[in-house]
Amino acid sequence: MAAGIDDISIYIPRLFMDAGDFAEARGLDPQKLVKGLGVSKMAIVDSNQDPACLAANACLKIMQKNKLSPEQIGRLYVATESSFDESKAMNSYVIGMLEQVYGAGSFQHCGGIECKFACVSGSYALYDNTNWIRAGESEEKYALVVVSDIAKYDLGSSGEMTQGGGAVAMLLNDSPRLLEFDPKVTSTSIKNEYDFYRPFGKETPIVHGQYSNLLYLIQVKNALNDYKRKALKTGLIDMKEGQSMLDHIDYFNMHLPYSNMGKKALAYLVRHELRNTPKWKEVIAEVGMEEPVPKDPRGTIESIIADSEFMTKDSEFTKRFAKTNTYQEIYENKVASSLIASKSIGNLYTASLYLGFRSCLEYEFQKGVNLEGKRFGFASYGSGSSAMVFSGVIKPEHLSIVKEMNLETEIGERQKLSLEDYEELHENKLEPNQSLLSARKEFVLEHVENISSDKRGERRYAFIE
Ligand code: COA
Repeated sequence: MAAGIDDISIYIPRLFMDAGDFAEARGLDPQKLVKGLGVSKMAIVDSNQDPACLAANACLKIMQKNKLSPEQIGRLYVATESSFDESKAMNSYVIGMLEQVYGAGSFQHCGGIECKFACVSGSYALYDNTNWIRAGESEEKYALVVVSDIAKYDLGSSGEMTQGGGAVAMLLNDSPRLLEFDPKVTSTSIKNEYDFYRPFGKETPIVHGQYSNLLYLIQVKNALNDYKRKALKTGLIDMKEGQSMLDHIDYFNMHLPYSNMGKKALAYLVRHELRNTPKWKEVIAEVGMEEPVPKDPRGTIESIIADSEFMTKDSEFTKRFAKTNTYQEIYENKVASSLIASKSIGNLYTASLYLGFRSCLEYEFQKGVNLEGKRFGFASYGSGSSAMVFSGVIKPEHLSIVKEMNLETEIGERQKLSLEDYEELHENKLEPNQSLLSARKEFVLEHVENISSDKRGERRYAFIE
């Protein structure tokens, strides 16, 4: 049975920190953010927003847009790494908010859980719900998968320039208008790692940034190898002599902790894919140097990072490779449009891959490209660490949805934060009733009970007309 994404909606907080102001405050060259990382604005949540209300707002948008009633939703899953409760699942808060609009008990039939595995959990949630539909268990109801996160790092840390926040809701069914997932090819890779983690009670993560970058690349490559094996085995792809996956995947959507990570990941995967093809000789001539090899090619990630001679040469090779016509053509045609939204919004953890997908649809449509029948490959990565690679094909009906997409209108009028306001929000110095913006037709957090009692941690939300 077919299954895939029928529609997609976003909710992005309207406050933002400008990259130039941020760089000035931290004594950084603004070009490090804008050119080096691809970050020009970071969406920041107000004092009356948490990841549950971002998720509920994205769900409400998709339900209202499609005129859906709660009876039509069979499952509601929330994937997040910004969880604020060790036990109560975030989807219960989301359902509580939606019932303020649709009526108490209106979602009673609707199953679901909160999923966690850093930034990759949304992809696992999509996969599980796709299989619920494929198994014929949905009784023609939709699954609603919402990925919602607030990417927040310590003040003054190197991760602080890669923050952001927002939610993406995806409606899944057996006759999707946007994208139908390819069956039997979804592939994963997993390993116990400490590249990025957030121990109990800590609001911000402990991050080994460069290590997480490298792990991302290696884990995605491993999952891609398995995807390729399955795609050949199932006959999804017929690889002719001298071809690579690049000949069979029209668009790549990458996990985007910052926009330029998409470029880096593409460069790594393209090298991996072309290395054993006849084209590689031409590529090496274009690059003007041989591809470096680590002293111990079978070593651990730690030993490779410690091999400073290799790391320097490899970085030089990657920079030259990224300037070749071969790479530039692949980048422009297969990835560039998916990176546009991330530049002005920032990191959305679980949601960043799907914001990228939406960005690709909107900006390729604006370029006049006909996406019907195009295969999208998804490279999802979550620290800790696991990668998932999967694919799907764009349906003819996508046009009716994509032509209405407009990122700026959907976010609404944005307000630039001063450094003082940003730092106050970051350090949680403002109460929910001291929000900087007035809410309009959205859910907000009203109160978190913090007096030690049997109600400690309870959250109260309201829908503001
Ligand atoms: N002008 C232009 N580019 C500049 C620059 C300047 N003045 N200064 C630095 N750059 C470039 C660097 O060359 C580098 O580009 P490259 O990656 O192509 O080599 C880029 O900007 C980033 O600089 P770098 O020195 O690597 O940054 P950093 O080590 O201070 O921090 C992260 C970068 C991503 C590691 C950090 O922000 C972080 O830890 N983020 C959170 C974790 C994360 O996002 N992990 C990703 C995997 S999930």
